[in-house]
Amino acid sequence: MSMDFADRVRRVEPSATLAISNLASELEADGVDVVDLSVGEPDFPTPENVTEAGKQAMDDGHTGYAPSNGIPPLKEAIVEKLAGDGLDYGTDEIIVTPGAKQALYETFQALVDDGDEVVLLDPAWVSYEAMAKMAGAELSRVDLSGHGFQLEPALDALRETVSDDTELLVVNSPSNPSGAVFSDAALEGVRDIAVEHDVTVISDEIYDAITYDVEQTSLGSLDGMGDRTVTINGFSKAYSMTGWRLGYLAAPAPLVDQASKLHSHSVSCATHFVQYAGVEALENTDDAVEEMRAAFSERRDMLADLFADHGKDVPVGDGAFYMMLPVDEDDQAWCEGAIEDAHVATVPGSAFGTPGYARLSYAASEERLREGVERLADNGYL
Ligand SMILES: Cc1ncc(COP(=O)(O)O)c(C=O)c1O
Repeated sequence: MSMDFADRVRRVEPSATLAISNLASELEADGVDVVDLSVGEPDFPTPENVTEAGKQAMDDGHTGYAPSNGIPPLKEAIVEKLAGDGLDYGTDEIIVTPGAKQALYETFQALVDDGDEVVLLDPAWVSYEAMAKMAGAELSRVDLSGHGFQLEPALDALRETVSDDTELLVVNSPSNPSGAVFSDAALEGVRDIAVEHDVTVISDEIYDAITYDVEQTSLGSLDGMGDRTVTINGFSKAYSMTGWRLGYLAAPAPLVDQASKLHSHSVSCATHFVQYAGVEALENTDDAVEEMRAAFSERRDMLADLFADHGKDVPVGDGAFYMMLPVDEDDQAWCEGAIEDAHVATVPGSAFGTPGYARLSYAASEERLREGVERLADNGYL
């Protein structure tokens, strides 16, 4: 029997990162010690009080279905968190999801029709393209790499790209993969363009807790953006909760009403007891979050210094835990070579729409980061 697969899955390419993780797995199975700088997850345990809150919720019997859009105490804690960012959402404007990824997926599915234009800022996190394509979007891309990955100098290019035909623009600050935190002037530029052309904007703020010496502004807090911004956030990065699968979207109620249908007919709800852990994460983790942030900050500086010692000037972002290392134009071949020869795993920039770079995650110990740089240098990759 031959199955006739749907266009929506056939138009999505397998992830370019897959080749790297396959190579890493093969090498590790052969007993090779791989320095894995490809992973997008904090290397810290989930804060203990959060884990305890999850266990307690299980013991308390919160093991059945939860209200589809989220338990009231978590939605209230999210509303409060967002209010702290200058965002004015009510509990009826929140959907709690199994990870921010699901929140993004529901947003694309709710807004994008076949042929609609979605604008991405490159380098852009890999799943935006896939989600947009699965929804049938035509993609337009604005390249930020020529501007040190900052958005402000690329506003003219964005202005030329966005038109009345644009349905959706995706902004991710702090950015995965560049670590760039967009300036207020850049975000105000986005606002002006979005308002002029009546465009909805996704603001993916999942790295908002991880910034260095800068304040991150929430796009939805700008005048004119409240009713056109979908704010995405989650617990994976700030609280080291990747495996718990917890995130959310905050959006005007009419969009929440539509996305709720997708949510209830697909995942039903985010895991019930996990949502109680989420309340604890939002309310009682300031010290743990600060500890992780400070560690990332030191590692970022150390890594940049190590590369500078080897004559590599790496653009350093003010947030998240990633860096884009300039490499050969054929970045896929560079990354494959780096893992085969130096046993260092990184992700090709082309996976994010920006060839000529390798994305490094510094969610690894200082010792492993040093080892990684040394191996790259010893094998002629720097
Ligand atoms: C920019 C960005 N958005 C969203 C996500 C999704 O995170 P999660 O589904 O774990 O909440 C990630 C994870 O890597 C990310 O880097």
